[in-house]
Amino acid sequence: MQSKPQAKYLKDYSAPSHTVSNFELDVELHPTDTKVTARASYKANNAETVLTLDGVELELESVKVNGQPYSDYVQDQTRLTISNLPEKFTLEIENRISPSTNTSLEGLYLSEGAYCTQCEAEGFRKITYFLDRPDVLTDYLVTITAEKNIPYLLSNGNKVAEGTLPDGRHFAKWQDPHKKPSYLFALVAGDFDVQKDTFTTKNGREVSLEIFVDKGNLNKTPHAMASLKNAMKWDETRFNLEYDLDIYMIVAVDFFNMGAMENKGLNVFNSACVLANQQTATDRDYHTIESIVGHEYFHNWTGNRVTCRDWFQLSLKEGLTVFRDQEFSSDLGSRALNRIDAVMAMRTHQFAEDAGPMAHPIRPEKVIEMNNFYTVTVYNKGAEVIRMMHTLLGEANFQKGMKLYFERHDGQAVTCDDFVAAMSDASGKCLEQFKRWYSQYGTPTIKVLTNYNVEDETFTISLEQVHAACDPILQPLHIPFAIELLDENGCTLPLILDGKQVQSVLELKEFKSEFTFENIKSQPTPVLLENFSAPCIVEYDYQMDELIHILKHASSDFTRWEVAQRAFTKEIKQAVLSLTNTGSVNLSEHLIAALKSILNEVETDKALISELIRLPNFDTVSAEFKQIPVAELVEVYKQFEQQIATQLCPELKKAYSESHEMGEISSYAVAARSLKSTALFYLAKVSDDEVSKWLNENSKSENMTLKLAALKAAKSANHTLSEQLINEFDANWRHDPLVMDKWFALQATTDNDEAIQLIKSLYAHPCFDKGNPNRVRALVGQFARSNPAQFHRIDGKGYELLADLLIELNHINPQNASRMVTPFMSWKRYDEQRQALIKAQLQRIAEINNLSDDLFEKVDKALNA
Ligand code: TRP
Ligand code: ZN
Repeated sequence: MQSKPQAKYLKDYSAPSHTVSNFELDVELHPTDTKVTARASYKANNAETVLTLDGVELELESVKVNGQPYSDYVQDQTRLTISNLPEKFTLEIENRISPSTNTSLEGLYLSEGAYCTQCEAEGFRKITYFLDRPDVLTDYLVTITAEKNIPYLLSNGNKVAEGTLPDGRHFAKWQDPHKKPSYLFALVAGDFDVQKDTFTTKNGREVSLEIFVDKGNLNKTPHAMASLKNAMKWDETRFNLEYDLDIYMIVAVDFFNMGAMENKGLNVFNSACVLANQQTATDRDYHTIESIVGHEYFHNWTGNRVTCRDWFQLSLKEGLTVFRDQEFSSDLGSRALNRIDAVMAMRTHQFAEDAGPMAHPIRPEKVIEMNNFYTVTVYNKGAEVIRMMHTLLGEANFQKGMKLYFERHDGQAVTCDDFVAAMSDASGKCLEQFKRWYSQYGTPTIKVLTNYNVEDETFTISLEQVHAACDPILQPLHIPFAIELLDENGCTLPLILDGKQVQSVLELKEFKSEFTFENIKSQPTPVLLENFSAPCIVEYDYQMDELIHILKHASSDFTRWEVAQRAFTKEIKQAVLSLTNTGSVNLSEHLIAALKSILNEVETDKALISELIRLPNFDTVSAEFKQIPVAELVEVYKQFEQQIATQLCPELKKAYSESHEMGEISSYAVAARSLKSTALFYLAKVSDDEVSKWLNENSKSENMTLKLAALKAAKSANHTLSEQLINEFDANWRHDPLVMDKWFALQATTDNDEAIQLIKSLYAHPCFDKGNPNRVRALVGQFARSNPAQFHRIDGKGYELLADLLIELNHINPQNASRMVTPFMSWKRYDEQRQALIKAQLQRIAEINNLSDDLFEKVDKALNA
């Protein structure tokens, strides 16, 4: 019997026993035998005589107290407990670690020959014994020693010394002038190419900017560098926040569990989130890079200068920083398209999480493995909660709140409550009820009824909040609910309540609210939850002609997208029901006509048109069903896509032909490529000579966005060109695994019974590596997420493939294994047969030896919640 992992609770928080200062860390690098020496002054906070340090997989060499060897300690798997200590003392600990055998990508490990660290959340304890918790802030002096063939030795802060040792090795010493928690520590050592630049802050300080990449990749760094400079500028302009060190470094590594990490002055990035040029990266990749470079940079203030008291407060830094990176992208690019992205992420991933066995509030209360809580809930719903405060307060008051937050808490480790208090105190707005968003999980549903009264010329909207039934202390939330009323010409009507004009954000505070708007001359069409003003589901029985009315007339691009999605969803749901009778289903002529006229709009942003004519994704639509009818949905999508292709062929061709790219990465060119790609996706299903020619041309394009669009279109349509194009891509790009990820992801969507065999055979592809999270996610992650027909095969082979992989990854990289288990979490949403098949796989995983805490927590919840 394995002992069951223990959960930690927010309510059990207690302050650290000791304060740490003058921390000196010496790291002598060696692939299998790195020696770490940690020296620091400790001071008991409440006369404690016992110090318990965290440490995992460390080979302890020696312990010294006040310079003398000390033996009054005990060690277990995760701790070192030292007893009979004075109030103040210095502690020196020596231990050894083996980076080359560390495949967890947490702690100190090797990525393609380069040493690097990942310490968030609790990885520092894999380097040395320490109080590895975010509320222990200390000053770091780090000395790195290595062989001379490793030229760059990097850590946080400023380099204060370097030199050669008598034995021929060299060293570098780094001092960080800012106190920090251990999770922000970083060390990198390797041989790189470096792109250098500078940024002058608003106060005239010059900051060196350095991006370190694998040799030969300097032609792929300009976009990340430009993004960094834009981010630095933007944070000064919008938030009045200036960078606080003389140097800012970014290192790109190939083996990385997430997107990037905000270590003070030394960000470590997944190379996929840095490297880009037109030949290798799509426009979407460019956008992702900009937002992640921004995100990590913005953490310097929201995360590093003010950090989290404990890990339950993760959303304090992540929700806020996602909000900031979304605003950055919106200010630099299209606000509507960025909002569409953010809302799609919520509906595709967060709603499912919030409705499943891993549901948790944005500030969780119970955690077994912290790595499991870097979730779309903490990040994206967390950002929506910040956005709601922004909506309720307005930009000016919100910025006052930020200012007060930094005045009060710079240099501290604080809680989400501290943040809300600053917002409330600075603005005078009461946020007491609003704080429930931090403790209640589940997506609220808002049921809406309307009534138009001809005699009174009034329009009444009745709203009811409905919350996840399982919460014991369920209370109504404070919800900013934005609305708009359109008249029959599509004009926006003034909102008049009790004779006074009000603004469009209604504040819901009770379970039930009712608003009666006056002076409404004819039946209006309501736009509800405008701009997704709260992370909720709106239940309202729109008629198709109302949706199309809004689609035609709404002035907000976001609203148009929103109703287009609703219209498609409505038709897909109806089609699923009628499929059983007839076998064939049809998109309504009404909607087809609306799509035609959208394609003919000349004034509209082509990127928006591209979004408007796309069906909502599979997961978004699935959320509408109590039990997900997988096979039926797959069939309806197929038929609908084919109908759009056939019936809109001339308009799609025209849109394709009239989308010209001018300037490589101008927003105009990006929009043109987006519309071209969507048009091509449909057109490949018509497949005449002209379309074949276009597919061919684009597949040979020097631009990855267009090239990939052609491949995706051909693959999805099972076009005769498909196999040839796929083989060509493989032959041309085998030397570049990051590019091959796009190819693996494409192969993963293979829509026939060979899919399973194909994926298994690709495990042996020279570019594939189960230890590399990017590869695994591209191939198997994409399969489980985006190939519903094959993943949910009724013979269970899809589920078996995923479970096999998870069992293998459990000992290679538990963090990655745990993220990959997500598609199994919603097993109860499928039919009985599929439920049984998934459950069997979950049980298989539950029974393996040495199941990691990461997988245990999720599998246990899935099976027993
Ligand atoms: N804090 C990082 C961010 O949001 C993400 C992060 C958390 C991370 N844990 C990690 C990155 C583990 C890599 C590995 O920017
Ligand atoms: Zn972050």
